[in-house]
Amino acid sequence: MKKLSVLMLLFVASFKADAQDISLKKGWKFAVGDSAQWASPTYNDQHWQAIDLSYNWERQGHPNYDGFGWYRTRVVIPASLREKSFLKDSLRLNLASVDDNDEVYLNGTLIAKYGNNGGSNIKDGNYGPRSYTIAANNPAILWGKENVLAVRVFDTGGDGGIYGINFSLAMADVMDNVTVNTDADFEYGDNNSLSKSVKLITKNQYQYQGKLAFKVTDPETDAVLYEKTNPAAFTIGKPFTYSFSIARLAKKSYTITYTFTDEKSGKSVTHIETTPYILTPYPSAKPKINGAEVFGARSGNPFLYMIPATGKKPLVYKATGLPEGLKLDAATGIISGSVAAKGDYPVTFTVSNKLGSKTKKFTISIGDKIGLTPALGWNSWNAWGLSVDDSKVRISAKAMADKLSQHGWAYINIDDGWEAENRSADGKILANSKFPDMKGLTDYVHGLGLRMGIYSSPGPRTCGGFLGSWQHEDQDAQTYGDWGIDYLKYDWCSYSEVTIPKPDLPALKKPYEVMQASLGKIHRDIMYSLCQYGWGDVWEWGANVDGNSWRTTGDIQDTWQSMAGIGFDQGKAAPHAQPGHFNDPDMLVVGKVGWGPSLHTTRLTYDEQYTHISLWSLLASPLLIGCDMGHLDKFTLSLLTNDEVLAIDQDALGKGASQYVKNENYQVWVKELKDGGKAIGLFNTTDKYQTISLDKADPVLKGYTKFRDVWQQQYIITTGKAFSAKVAPHGVMLIRVEK
Ligand code: GAL
Repeated sequence: MKKLSVLMLLFVASFKADAQDISLKKGWKFAVGDSAQWASPTYNDQHWQAIDLSYNWERQGHPNYDGFGWYRTRVVIPASLREKSFLKDSLRLNLASVDDNDEVYLNGTLIAKYGNNGGSNIKDGNYGPRSYTIAANNPAILWGKENVLAVRVFDTGGDGGIYGINFSLAMADVMDNVTVNTDADFEYGDNNSLSKSVKLITKNQYQYQGKLAFKVTDPETDAVLYEKTNPAAFTIGKPFTYSFSIARLAKKSYTITYTFTDEKSGKSVTHIETTPYILTPYPSAKPKINGAEVFGARSGNPFLYMIPATGKKPLVYKATGLPEGLKLDAATGIISGSVAAKGDYPVTFTVSNKLGSKTKKFTISIGDKIGLTPALGWNSWNAWGLSVDDSKVRISAKAMADKLSQHGWAYINIDDGWEAENRSADGKILANSKFPDMKGLTDYVHGLGLRMGIYSSPGPRTCGGFLGSWQHEDQDAQTYGDWGIDYLKYDWCSYSEVTIPKPDLPALKKPYEVMQASLGKIHRDIMYSLCQYGWGDVWEWGANVDGNSWRTTGDIQDTWQSMAGIGFDQGKAAPHAQPGHFNDPDMLVVGKVGWGPSLHTTRLTYDEQYTHISLWSLLASPLLIGCDMGHLDKFTLSLLTNDEVLAIDQDALGKGASQYVKNENYQVWVKELKDGGKAIGLFNTTDKYQTISLDKADPVLKGYTKFRDVWQQQYIITTGKAFSAKVAPHGVMLIRVEK
């Protein structure tokens, strides 16, 4: 199916081939179709075609085939494999990557399957690496004999099959299935202290006994701040918990190394994490109005905008100069109604509380354009994948209303996984049982002053295998309108099946034009988010099909490699950003992410997260939070509520930053701002501290006298000929320069 797997991260461990390992690379037979008999060890597959596991089935005689296919092979599993291993506990089956889902049968018994993400079935797309562990005493394994391995695969669209490099059978090692789980949040205490509990967990029966070494180092100086070794013991179902507290920390990240060494086997496992530090100042109790300076809506369509403001509650809202047709709720700050007459309306907002009042000039632009600044919102995918449901969406909306909307966050977007198995008799799209009342849900979201987004594909099926809008575009747009939807992410997915092979530019544009026309027929402002992974240099034509944003890349993952790889590669697309039309380098990977029912803390370090938000803001990207909003830890919240950082993203000029310096150690990205200033990101792309300097006579800085540290929201006193900043590994110094 798609180019990049989002599920890859669930299988982060890589299992090195051992001399003992049995290769499963050769001897496979293959057939398209589906039959329960094909799992049986006695089934005669002699007439099946031989298949090479280096490639998908499309390249081996089945072009454009989607659906079921079976793979079979025979393998002797010698008893010595188990005897020679230390643990003797379980057998590991590595099947490289499966595109998209699979069920694995050993001698006719189902021993593993991967079609069950979020309670759905084998037809849901879960492309990604597969590594299964099977208890060594599972009677399905015929030790010392020939075994028949049969794999049933379902492909939702695009490439299909089992393919890749690592196909093997091996005994699980002592430290396989041992994790140092650091997912708990850090607690912030007095004295700049941090405390936390971590757990040693295993799925093995084996009794682990040994030592846990704990070490805190300063990556700037390599000095060891703290070191301690404790006895530790754990086994399946009985984790070992280690709690610690470290004090007097400076405003930067430290490195914590956990190493557990098992006494009997002598083997060890190491896990490294960094410590959080908060730069965003705590919001003042005095009233302050945040968010963009402009909001666009189409004439005659329903209008909804909530004035984003912080300050001790209750706040009282006022607006002068509102165009005819709009009214403001003085207690909530929600402006609603509908404006008939086109024009740019200058308005003044005032927000007051007991401690004072604050005003802000704002423009309501009634015309043809919407999304004049990038969308700020949440999307379910990076957190919940296909397991999204009504309650998760409500929790997210409530959390956004309580904690984020004051800073301008407004969209609650449901990604894939909401669609019913079949349309109604008259062809109407329906929601599945996880979304019992889509209209009710949308009303709830609107009631909080927020807007609601949904997801579909121009193809017959979405990437997750759900119903797409193919040949139902008008009807679907109408349904979205009836539900009150404000945002549509339209994801190419299986559209490849219904268009020409190797689509040219007109073919790439077509499905987006079709839906554009359908959306044009209903009377709602629906933000149109194109998702086709950047094909055909979409940044050059996305605006022509009325795209308010377009994905410029494949799917992001919560790793430095993925995030930085995408973010620092946006130079080509950046000049095409403009009010109403923005590049979308994919959703944010901060907070608790997971693409499925179970979540983990993002694998980005804290400095990498500062880089992520800074870079996406410089690029004027939509900022779509991809985490569990029911669990926003203090750091993540601080990252998402820095009004000066968000103001860079939301700047009314709508420009994307350009890459100004790129060398092997650092990059400098510069974004022009509406007030004549510039936002500049100095990014350390190495894993060592370094000082990054910009000469003040350099054209990019010439004439600018004030330098503001955006994250800390304070001016920097800088003397000398150059502006210099010490930047943490993979970290950033984000500044704003003013004349
Ligand atoms: C992918 C898309 C993701 C997500 C997913 C849903 O193609 O890039 O962002 O929407 O499909 O199945």
